[in-house]
Amino acid sequence: MRTVREVKALRGVVAAWKAAGQTVGVVPTMGALHPGHLSLIAAARAGADRVIATIFVNPRQFDSPEDLAKYPRTEDRDAGMLAVAGVDLLFAPPPEAVYPQGFATSVSVAGLSEGLCGAHRPGHFDGVATVVTKLFLMTGADRAFFGEKDWQQLQIVRRLARDLNIPVAVTGCPTLREADGLAMSSRNTRLSPADRAAAPALHRAMSAAGSAIRGGTPVADALARARQDILRAGFCEVEYLELRGAEGLEPLDAPDRPARLLAAAWLGGVRLIDNIVVDP
Ligand code: PAF
Repeated sequence: MRTVREVKALRGVVAAWKAAGQTVGVVPTMGALHPGHLSLIAAARAGADRVIATIFVNPRQFDSPEDLAKYPRTEDRDAGMLAVAGVDLLFAPPPEAVYPQGFATSVSVAGLSEGLCGAHRPGHFDGVATVVTKLFLMTGADRAFFGEKDWQQLQIVRRLARDLNIPVAVTGCPTLREADGLAMSSRNTRLSPADRAAAPALHRAMSAAGSAIRGGTPVADALARARQDILRAGFCEVEYLELRGAEGLEPLDAPDRPARLLAAAWLGGVRLIDNIVVDP
């Protein structure tokens, strides 16, 4: 696996692949890799001739300088994992290669970015949309692979690719879970042992609410019960727990179309998110 840090070198490699008729897949990451990321790499290997992974801790999508500083940076370990997983090229640019002096452009996906995580993390999705647009344009990838765990992010990425006519096919890949149901996330390593033991309650309560809704329980009742169960398990705050249309993310009070139950909740200073399918 080759590592490049400059856009010019990246474009040179991709141009040679494309000249040879090969398709290119990209898996954008911020590093601190776990098996969920490796499942995206596996999907990319199955869906494209060549695979690029990117590692860039994007300063524009963090809520505060403290949060950005706390984000784990483990590039050597990550690079080893990517090489073993069969990645052809690692693009790991320094901040100035992505945001040079005078950078003034922002990509903002109206509507989709506004509720759920967007309501609690102002500017976060503009940061994500801007960097993902740049990564698409810098890599020129034909296909891109994102985890369904960040469901709102996935819908935003699909929309920006469509709205901006970026010729990349965006594929969502299923959330990988620990044996006890906790969605895999780089943030899980920040949970204390006691909080780690409590964490699966989020997915458990969401699954119970999903089954209740499918079984005819009114959405508000099912969500109130789930909220109670999550707090009783030791979470200190449920930021949101909502039933939304799967693609447009419109609020739903009945699962009358493809839907997702989405949640964010705080456990011992760690913010966990999750989502599940609740189809009619
Ligand atoms: O999901 C992530 O890790 C990040 O939001 C992404 C898509 C790599 C953009 O920085």
